[in-house]
Amino acid sequence: MTKAEKDLTDALGIPVFLVAAEVGWQLRLGEGLVSEKPQVRRIGEIKPVLKNPQADHPELLYWMYRDVRRPEDEHLIFQHSLRYDLTVFNPGVLSVGGTPGDGDEWNKAAGHYHPFTVSGNAFPEVYQVVSGSGLFLLQEVDDPFSVPPVVKRFLIVTVEPGDVLIIPSHCAHPTIVIGDEPLVTVNWVARSFDSQYTPIKLMGGVAYYIVKDGDGWAVEPNPRYRNAPEPERVSCKDLPDKGLSTVGPVYPHFLKEPKAYDFLVHPDEGGSER
Ligand SMILES: [Fe+2]
Repeated sequence: MTKAEKDLTDALGIPVFLVAAEVGWQLRLGEGLVSEKPQVRRIGEIKPVLKNPQADHPELLYWMYRDVRRPEDEHLIFQHSLRYDLTVFNPGVLSVGGTPGDGDEWNKAAGHYHPFTVSGNAFPEVYQVVSGSGLFLLQEVDDPFSVPPVVKRFLIVTVEPGDVLIIPSHCAHPTIVIGDEPLVTVNWVARSFDSQYTPIKLMGGVAYYIVKDGDGWAVEPNPRYRNAPEPERVSCKDLPDKGLSTVGPVYPHFLKEPKAYDFLVHPDEGGSER
């Protein structure tokens, strides 16, 4: 991809542009959109979840744009207790000194579990891939707060633009960007949401690392996990989607059919099954 501006409006249903920044990539929200102040994740902040905590390049890993909305849509969004976020991941491999080699991890999100609802279930989340390609790792555990956790299932999900992925309850879910293009994702999630990062930090990440292997990727086990199941490689199309994979951009779809997203706030009403 050349370092130019890319219009994501058709893919998102709202005016957003992927722009080359001084370092890496950022998003520019078009006219009529507001959000919280964008936050950047630096490599120093996620050292506890890296295969190699000495890695120090690239410094800026991804930008988060939380609570993106048009003011005229706020009432409906807030009424349904939801939040819409955008994330842009810089492409690259995490290395010491900026000279990556095979075995170094591809850039990734910190990874987190979702908090529990009052009934002991956990909130799910809806993701849609907008631009670029990568992997979502889904680490399903019995109890996110048990250290070490009992991992019941570990999925490596290949994602492409347009894909919709529902993060089930009780799943840690780091995103990985593969290759040399930035990865842009959106998500709908309960507003009351407070992501749980500590259990992943205590384990040095999830059960498997995704590392550079030539121009591609390979899987390496995290030795802190004992008895983790073998990872299953799947594509988004193999997973339950609640019909959302055919609706187009999820922002305008929410405005048309807000009830289709109620399971994000009330997962106990049949919303968290796989
Ligand atoms: Fe999440």
